[in-house]
Amino acid sequence: MPRDVKNHFLFEVATEVANRVGGIYSVIKSKAPVTTKEYRNRYCLIGPLNRKSAATEVEELIPTNVHLKDALDAMASRGVRYLYGRWLIEGAPRVLLFDTPSAYGYLDEWKADLWSIAGIPAPPTDTETNEAIVFGYLVAWFLGEYVAKDVEHAVIAHFHEWLAGVALPLCRKRRLDVTTIFTTHATLLGRYLCAGSVDFYNNLQWFDVDAEAGKRGIYHRYCIERAAAHSCDVFTTVSHITAYESEHLLKRKPDGVLPNGLNVVKFSAVHEFQNLHAITKEKLNDFVRGHFYGHYDFDLDNTLYFFISGRYEYRNKGVDMYIEALARLNYRLKTENSNKTVVAFIIMPAATNSYTVETLKGQAVIRALDSTVKDIQQLIGRRLFEHCARSSEHGKEVPELDELLTGSDRVLLKRRVFALKRNSLPPIVTHNMADDANDPILNQIRRVQLFNHPSDRVKIIFHPEFLNSNNPILPLDYDDFVRGCHLGIFPSYYEPWGYTPAECTVMGVPSITTNLSGFGCYMEDLIENSSDYGIYIVDRRSKGVDDSINQLSDYMFDFTLKSRRQRINQRNRTERLSDLLDWKRMGLEYIKARQLALRRAYPDSFSDGDDENPFTSATAHKLTRPLSVPGSPLDRAGFMTPGDLGSLQELSQSLNTEDYVGFKLPEEEEEESEYDSYPLT
Ligand code: UDP
Ligand code: G6P
Ligand code: GLC
Repeated sequence: MPRDVKNHFLFEVATEVANRVGGIYSVIKSKAPVTTKEYRNRYCLIGPLNRKSAATEVEELIPTNVHLKDALDAMASRGVRYLYGRWLIEGAPRVLLFDTPSAYGYLDEWKADLWSIAGIPAPPTDTETNEAIVFGYLVAWFLGEYVAKDVEHAVIAHFHEWLAGVALPLCRKRRLDVTTIFTTHATLLGRYLCAGSVDFYNNLQWFDVDAEAGKRGIYHRYCIERAAAHSCDVFTTVSHITAYESEHLLKRKPDGVLPNGLNVVKFSAVHEFQNLHAITKEKLNDFVRGHFYGHYDFDLDNTLYFFISGRYEYRNKGVDMYIEALARLNYRLKTENSNKTVVAFIIMPAATNSYTVETLKGQAVIRALDSTVKDIQQLIGRRLFEHCARSSEHGKEVPELDELLTGSDRVLLKRRVFALKRNSLPPIVTHNMADDANDPILNQIRRVQLFNHPSDRVKIIFHPEFLNSNNPILPLDYDDFVRGCHLGIFPSYYEPWGYTPAECTVMGVPSITTNLSGFGCYMEDLIENSSDYGIYIVDRRSKGVDDSINQLSDYMFDFTLKSRRQRINQRNRTERLSDLLDWKRMGLEYIKARQLALRRAYPDSFSDGDDENPFTSATAHKLTRPLSVPGSPLDRAGFMTPGDLGSLQELSQSLNTEDYVGFKLPEEEEEESEYDSYPLT
């Protein structure tokens, strides 16, 4: 009996399942609602178990799928531990997390096997690769057990990134009856080469890949990545720029591009996100008052919050360009006597030893002042009330201010104000850095001398840790922080997609990106004059470095010239673009990739005229441009699905458009309002 391709099972494998590291976590988490709607209980995410994050993100369950349970029992009988459960996020997908340490006893055997079947070496000292190998072997073992037990359904295994890719050559070598997809979110060599001082994009075709990988000590990792790309049924990546890079560095042209989407949450009232901006900005104001205590001589009403955030990749994420452009902006704001102050945040995790005393003190002294003022306010209120209630003397019904503010109040207030004095400048960095003297960000700040001097119009705050609401100095989740800011700045040199500017867009916060980032190119292709919509794109392709920095600093400067009303309008326009990034639209590419994988593995189930063809029954519809987007996005956007930008190559031969455009979410779960904005043609 052929396997049932229509009701196939989907396993999605990544190391960031229920474990935030960077953007891959954002991909699988934000996609979960649409994927669980489509697959219901035929979907399971697989990752390595990170006990710390799983403890807060996953609720343990007993598997109800008998085949899955049998497969896991078989592995458990040989010592493998795992956590199966519900990931506590929207969509609540099932997750299977393997406790890799429980299988380290097999490591040497598996390393030898990997060498003998695929010629991939594994040095003993690379713990990350050891982890990838153990995880890969566990996944392949599990898939083998599963397809041996469930012989009824087809199985798609979709792998993200090389760290989860070891299972791919194993599936191929063992001829497991699964069909596989590999999505690479970057290439190892690309990341390494760009982090150095290589002219990457002009030399892509010419790199001697083995030698370059060898020079950087990552040859074995590169082998895993390349083996994964070559042994999957369908190879994809997240943007065209990375597709091009993969073709040259991994030597396989991707079958298609799967751009990243977001789970767009729409407020019932459009102005709601503007209110949120004002509320969270107030929290940033509180932090800034504390951080700059003693030098808080600027007007918060004329202050703009800029930020850069992400994993600490100094050159790849364009922090070098950010700081240099800020220095130029500072000079310009000073020479033009601008009344604006820019507070520029850098949120990038680095090795630290907790917060500095000075940072904690800043928040403490300003809180003490705040609470003293509130106490005195109350006392004054009571005195005022008493006076007015009892006063009968003509002309003295209302007391003088001096009568209300007593001598002891004044003393207390003075003490609080004196506590705000300090001889040093407000700090740049909020934490004690493990290696302050060699930190590239701090060194560049030293070089350009942005020291938070009172005369500086651009102030810098480097917070070398991701944000969360339990943070003692800036108690905001990252999303709320973004909402409170005015402009996100991401001048990346190497950025296969780049979630950070995309997240700004759906929250209605303007951002700057580059034409070397997947997201930047995607938006450039889709929208005319993207800057009108609050998406500024710095040209890092055709311009020299200095010109790109000037362009970036011009964008920043022009932004400081905007009035409040102009900023509010721009935020409204930015937020309207969010429909373009919704998984409900972007997810179509994933559907196409899965279709292609099934067709390649089970061509007989898709032969012409075959009634069992699972995807030909629905009527073909294409998504058109969301109504909420005004005229200027390129008109053709109205007739596009994201894939028209990055069509799967075999589309014409084997993929029928009807296969994917017929996709419909289950009726009973469909909320009308969510789909109102997608008119069907
Ligand atoms: N991020 C976060 N907390 C922070 C700063 C960033 O969770 O304080 C997240 C951000 O929401 C984004 C991810 O880190 O989803 C970075 O993803 P991106 O694709 O921009 O870059 P990557 O790290 O994958 O290269
Ligand atoms: C939102 C609020 C307004 C507020 C504004 C501040 O739009 O709805 O009430 O005035 O934010 O904007 P700004 O760009 O100055 O932070
Ligand atoms: C990678 C890339 C980033 C991308 C993310 C999700 O980590 O560096 O650009 O957004 O994966 O695809």
